[in-house]
Amino acid sequence: MTLPGVRALIGELDAAGDLPAAFGPLLDAIPREQFIPDRAAVDRVPIDRGTDPQAWLAAVYSDRSIVTQFDDGRTPWPDVDDRPTSSASQPSVVLGMLDALQVTEGLDILEIDTGTGYNAALLRHLVGPTGSVTTIDIDPDVTGHAAARLTAAGFGDVDVLTQGGAISAASGGEGRSFDRVIATMAVPLGRIPHAWVAQCRVGGQILTRSAPTCAAARWSVSTSPNRATRPDMPCR
Ligand SMILES: C[S@@+](CC[C@H](N)C(=O)[O-])C[C@H]1O[C@@H](n2cnc3c(N)ncnc32)[C@H](O)[C@@H]1O
Repeated sequence: MTLPGVRALIGELDAAGDLPAAFGPLLDAIPREQFIPDRAAVDRVPIDRGTDPQAWLAAVYSDRSIVTQFDDGRTPWPDVDDRPTSSASQPSVVLGMLDALQVTEGLDILEIDTGTGYNAALLRHLVGPTGSVTTIDIDPDVTGHAAARLTAAGFGDVDVLTQGGAISAASGGEGRSFDRVIATMAVPLGRIPHAWVAQCRVGGQILTRSAPTCAAARWSVSTSPNRATRPDMPCR
């Protein structure tokens, strides 16, 4: 049964033309509320599930990003500041990137920047039992919460690692490769980190956002052994 909040979000995205085909059931299968902390902020306004569950739910099921950390945790809730350092991205952006990533069953996915773990859960659902999802985030508090939420939501087999930028050699990074690498952080075009390319299989794809516009850009790993990449999706 579709939760009323999920229905509201699906309706909002659909009306705006931001609901790629088949992603309605995906939103239904993995309720966003399972990944958003009880205390967060939307548009610089604190939300608290404990004291105002209706407002919290309305925010969770709207097409808005939800900030879960400011200033690397040095600005504690309910204060806000100008430096959000972790968040759950806007659902329309999340779905647009998933659509562009062309995820199918059985793929091995590396997600750079875990955040709440919600995107990793969506990916895990999409790749099915024969695929895998590894997600990394630089902040141990972020990965700790995300791993706990993923497990509680039934996605305990997502590999959650505390690392910056890419999987390090210490975690077997040099021996691991993926069909897809997705990063919601923005990097200047032409400066895709080499580690992302090195950890993407030939024929695989890297999807990120390009700085400074934040437009999505997709790269195909096209040759071996030098693993040159080429942009294959126009910025939008
Ligand atoms: C805006 S949040 C996005 C989270 C999630 N991908 C989403 O779209 O909802 C950015 C996350 O990137 C993490 N981060 C920042 N720099 C990083 C780095 N160099 N390597 C890995 N994660 C990083 C932050 O800790 C934060 O959780």
